[in-house]
Amino acid sequence: MMTTQIFPSLLAADFARLADEAATVSGVADWLHVDVMDSHFVPNLTIGLPVVSALLKHATLPLDCHLMISEPDRWAPEYAQAGARNVTIHAEAASAPVRTLRLIRSAGARAGLAINPATPVEPYADLFGEIDMLLVMTIEPGFGGQAFLDITVPKIARARELIARHGGEIWLQVDGGVSEETFGRCAEAGADVFVAGTAVFGAEDPAAVRHLRSTAEAAARRPADDGG
Ligand code: DX5
Ligand code: ZN
Repeated sequence: MMTTQIFPSLLAADFARLADEAATVSGVADWLHVDVMDSHFVPNLTIGLPVVSALLKHATLPLDCHLMISEPDRWAPEYAQAGARNVTIHAEAASAPVRTLRLIRSAGARAGLAINPATPVEPYADLFGEIDMLLVMTIEPGFGGQAFLDITVPKIARARELIARHGGEIWLQVDGGVSEETFGRCAEAGADVFVAGTAVFGAEDPAAVRHLRSTAEAAARRPADDGG
C-alpha cells in the first residue's frame, strides 16, 4: 500500500528566514526537501553543508537533501553524517554510485538516486537494492518555478513497474513543476512522494499542502477504481 507524502521544497522559501519557513509547514508536510546546487552540475548556486547543518538544528521535519552537484561521491556521505535523513545523488554526476549510496546508508540515512528528464530509468534497475528512493526529475534541474515536462510521465510509470518487479519498498519521488494541476498525472503514473516548491511556498498559506495531499490521494485511487 503506497502512502502519499508531500515534501515542500525550501528553494521557493525565503532563504533569509529558513527556520521560520520550515516551521510554517511542520504540521502539514511529511519531510522538507532541500536543494543543494553547486553552479557546476546545474547553473544555479544555493546552499551547502554549513547551511544544511544549521537548519538541521532547527527543523522538526526530517530533511531530504537533493544534491545537484558535480561531486556527489565527495560530499553525499557528509550530509548523511550531519543528520540528513535522506540524501539523493544524481546518476549523471556520480562516478561510483554503488559506493556512495552504501556510504549514505552506513551513515544512517536513506539513499536516493535521481535521474534527469533525458536519462532513462532502465539502466538503473540493477541499483534498486542500493536505494530507498528513486527521484524522477519532471523538469531540468536547476531552478524552481519551471513548467512540468509531460514527456517524463511514461518514465514515472515504467519506474513504478520496475520497482514493483524489484519488490522492495522504494519510494518514487517526482520533483519539478508539481502543482495542483500536475499532481494527478504523477500520482496516476505511480509517484508516491511529491516535491513542491512554488505550489507550497508560493501559495498564500503553506498549509495548501493539505489540499495538494488530497488531490494526490484522489488521483492515486483512480486507476484502482476504474478497474472495478
Ligand atoms: C529544482 C529543484 C526543485 C525545485 C522545484 O531543480 O530540484 O526541488 O524546488 O520547484 P517547483 O516546485 O517550483 O518546480
Ligand atoms: Zn529538488
